[in-house]
Amino acid sequence: MNRCKGARHVMSKWKKTRVLWKKAELRSNIPETRKMTRETLKEMLNRYQMVYVKPDVGTYGNGVMRVEMKENGGGYRYQNGLKVRSFTSFDPMFESIRKHTRRRRYLVQKGIHLTRYRKRRFDIRVMVQQSPKRKWEATGVIGRVGDPRKVVTNVHNGGKITPIETLLAAYMPDKQKRVFVSRLKKLGTMAAKQLHRQFRGIKEIGLDVALDRQLHPWVLEANTCPDPYIFNKLKDKRIFGKIARYARAYGRI
Ligand SMILES: Nc1ncnc2c1ncn2[C@@H]1O[C@H](COP(=O)(O)OP(=O)(O)O)[C@@H](O)[C@H]1O
Ligand SMILES: [Mg+2]
Repeated sequence: MNRCKGARHVMSKWKKTRVLWKKAELRSNIPETRKMTRETLKEMLNRYQMVYVKPDVGTYGNGVMRVEMKENGGGYRYQNGLKVRSFTSFDPMFESIRKHTRRRRYLVQKGIHLTRYRKRRFDIRVMVQQSPKRKWEATGVIGRVGDPRKVVTNVHNGGKITPIETLLAAYMPDKQKRVFVSRLKKLGTMAAKQLHRQFRGIKEIGLDVALDRQLHPWVLEANTCPDPYIFNKLKDKRIFGKIARYARAYGRI
C-alpha cells in the first residue's frame, strides 16, 4: 500500500530545495541548485566543473545525468544511464542533453564527488518521521552503494542497501561513527521541520545525503514519500520495527 497523496506528497524538487535553502543553518548543506537553461548549465559548469542535471519531478534516479567540463578546454561529457557522450564544445552537448529533457523542467545542481566504499560511490538515506506524539524524529540512517557503471545510487538503478556503519568503517573509528550518524540525524530533523513549516501535510521525509571527500554532508534531495521497506533489509530488525510502527500511526502503511 502506498498512501502518498495530496498534501502529504510534494513532488517538485525545486520547491523543496528553495524551502530548505531559506533556513540559514541548513544552507551550508544544500548544493547550489538552479532551474536548468543553456545559461545556468554553462555557468554552473564553469563554477563547479561537474554538475548533475535532474528532472524537477522524478524518482528512482531516472533521467538524472552527470555533466562534466574537462580541464583546459578539454571538452565536455555527460552520462545518462549507461551511456557516455563526449563533445568538444558546449553547444552540441547542450543540444544533445536537451533531447532527453524535452519540455520537462530540469534542474542543475552542483555535483558532489561522493565518498566511496570498495571503489564504488555511495550516498545515504536519512529517514525522518513524525512520531505518534507528533515530534519529528530521525528513525533510520542507511547507505546505498551505486552500481559502478552508473552515476546514480538508487536501488531501482542497481544500488545496494548497506549498513551505514559498514560504509563509514574505512573513514573513522566506531566512536566517531556514532557521533557522525547523530549529526546526520540532526540534519535530517532540521530539514524535516523546515519543510513541515511550509508543507503542513507531510508526515515523513527521506533525505538523500551525499558525503564529499571531506565527509561534508550535502542534501541532494528530500523525498516526501520515501520507501520505508529498504530498512527492512537491515539485520537489526528494531530499526524497521519502529519505522513501520510510526508509518502505521499516520496511515502510510
Ligand atoms: N548533486 C549531485 N552530486 C552527486 N550525485 C548526485 C547529485 N544529485 C543526484 N546525485 C545522484 O543521483 C541519485 C538520484 O538523484 P536524486 O536527486 O535523489 O533524484 P531521484 O528523485 O531520482 O532519486 C542520487 O541518489 C545520487 O546518487
Ligand atoms: Mg533520490
